[in-house]
Amino acid sequence: MSKSVFSKNDYKKLIEEVKKHDKLYYQKSKPEISDYQYDMLVKEVEKIEKKHPEWIDGISPTKSIATDASGHFKTVNHKYPMLSLANTYSEEDLQAFIDRMEKLTEHSDLSFNVELKMDGVALSVIYEDGELIRAVTRGNGQRGDDVTQNAYGIHNLPHKLKEKHKGILELRGEVYLPLKEFKRLNRDREDAGLDLYANPRNAASGSLKLIDAEVSASRGLNVLLYDLANPPKEIKLQSKIAPYLRKLGLPVLAKELSHTAKSAKSILDFAHQIEQKRSSLPFEIDGIVVKVDDLDERSTLGATNKSPRWAVAYKFAAEQAETQIESISVQVGRTGVLTPVANLKPVTVSGSLISRATLHNQDEIDRKDIREHDYVIIEKGGDVIPKVVSVVQKSGKRSPKWLMPTKCPHCGSDVVKKEGEVAVRCKAGTKCTGQYISRIKHFIAKGAMNIENFGIKVIERFYELGFLETLTDIYRIKRDDIIDLEGFGERSVTVLLSNIEKSKDCELYRFIFGLGIPFIGVVAAKVIAEHVQDIETLVNVTHEELIELEGIGEKVADSVIDYFDNEIHVEEINDFLSLGVNPKPPVKKKKGHIFSEKTFVITGTLEEYSRTEAKEIIESLGGKVTSSISKLTDYLLLGKNPGSKYNKALKLDVLILKEQDFKKLL
Ligand code: IVH
Repeated sequence: MSKSVFSKNDYKKLIEEVKKHDKLYYQKSKPEISDYQYDMLVKEVEKIEKKHPEWIDGISPTKSIATDASGHFKTVNHKYPMLSLANTYSEEDLQAFIDRMEKLTEHSDLSFNVELKMDGVALSVIYEDGELIRAVTRGNGQRGDDVTQNAYGIHNLPHKLKEKHKGILELRGEVYLPLKEFKRLNRDREDAGLDLYANPRNAASGSLKLIDAEVSASRGLNVLLYDLANPPKEIKLQSKIAPYLRKLGLPVLAKELSHTAKSAKSILDFAHQIEQKRSSLPFEIDGIVVKVDDLDERSTLGATNKSPRWAVAYKFAAEQAETQIESISVQVGRTGVLTPVANLKPVTVSGSLISRATLHNQDEIDRKDIREHDYVIIEKGGDVIPKVVSVVQKSGKRSPKWLMPTKCPHCGSDVVKKEGEVAVRCKAGTKCTGQYISRIKHFIAKGAMNIENFGIKVIERFYELGFLETLTDIYRIKRDDIIDLEGFGERSVTVLLSNIEKSKDCELYRFIFGLGIPFIGVVAAKVIAEHVQDIETLVNVTHEELIELEGIGEKVADSVIDYFDNEIHVEEINDFLSLGVNPKPPVKKKKGHIFSEKTFVITGTLEEYSRTEAKEIIESLGGKVTSSISKLTDYLLLGKNPGSKYNKALKLDVLILKEQDFKKLL
């Protein structure tokens, strides 16, 4: 008898390893390995199980679905289980799937529906009599988290169907974060000194499971629905589901992103076509899904307790490559955070030449034990900054462990690490030259002062020429200084100076955000601007005032106070003022109105206001509008033809305000 290389104990350990990564991925939205590496681990489990079926454990990843339940939500049963998909990576596996389907159905000419495999989070969405009533995550496939409140905030998911639909409509789809929103979110998180999401999938999963529905709604989640759990009798094909849902006003994949095929060749042709388009899609995909088109055949084929027999995922090759780290350098961001960066031997990953990859911070370097001259696997997923996934262990002498410098590499000042933070910062604040250019870039950026025609090249040039020694120098640039510079003409100088001039009257929150105070993203800047109303008050704001504000915690408050405790920053503000920078105060929410601090839900059609107008009025009076009724709702604003919210409000004893009464109270 041949001796197995694996012992039963190794098998158990491998399962434990997979479970650990399941937890990191599904529950914490913080994976430590790539999907590809994960799939390889599961393949290893499968291999052992083939050899030793007697060892197979019920908790094996080949037999059960990992749970995504976070423990924060009420859990509910799925009427129809939410399964997983079997994965294939090769043409042979795909051909084997087709052969299997043809054999099982006894049809040699089967049609397959092929479409994109969205890289997001599965969601079950239920409409009753045309109204969105529930949304549940996959959970363990049988029971998931009730995330209905957050689903109301999914941008493209209608609360009401466009056409009448009696009874229950149970849908399946994938919630995802468009790349644009993902980049915005990570930018804001970086500004706020928070950990970045590794990829859009994790950001989507984290956002869908936030406890605060308003924050969840602000993330910009979207959904694409791809299946109906209980299709009406007249629908006989999978390929007819999307047109049916589209007619009801539901978000489905665009027609050109799905395909009907009868052979492996046709499926692969479509897959290659999609791979070409992959980098220009506004969201991430990780492959295609191939499904038997005929719904009757599907029911006959059925499912194992893990995945349906009638579908398979054909995954695209991971966007990874091996290369060597030539050196590790340190970048200083505008908030002074030091970020280690790997300078790589250039290598092509998914079509682009990569020569640098972020190493995030010292903790990350220690965890992966990354050293100079190591051979590493790098990965580039969609639009995410390339990162080092792991070190390829090669024998031989390695460089010593890499350590973050104790002095800022740009200005030589000491670096500091606050308790509880992973980030290391340069102590010199705005005086650090390394932070300098990053600070100017941030100040003039779209979300901040929005000074157009002021590109990075121009900033660098002005900096070298000595025109931009401080942030306030932006407002000291004179026509005569720059008119003779190469590349500048009459027109470009006029446009730039006029844009700089215009920015003096910007909105106050843009100015506050533009200062680049650590932890102050756009949202916090808006809240603070609303409270302080002008720059002078901002400089003198107290810690107590700040922590009273909604969404401002200790960390943010400390950061603002620290910032203005620094005399240099106060001087800078005085300079801005004397140079004519005069940000506009925001409209102050009125306190004391009967609607102040009250929570509203609107239902039905209002005669005099659009929903947006009504929402704006309520918010301007200090109230808040949410999308669903709960015990915490103060008023239901009732329009014509109200939906199910009306009954729910009656049940929960929520005060019902007719439009006319609402008007009177205004
Ligand atoms: S069909 C499992 N179609 O992939 C039941 N799934 O890895 C049939 N997914 O849990 C699924 N895009 O959340 C299907 N166009 C698509 C999909 C898709 C993404 C997800 C789905 C599923 C996961 C399995």
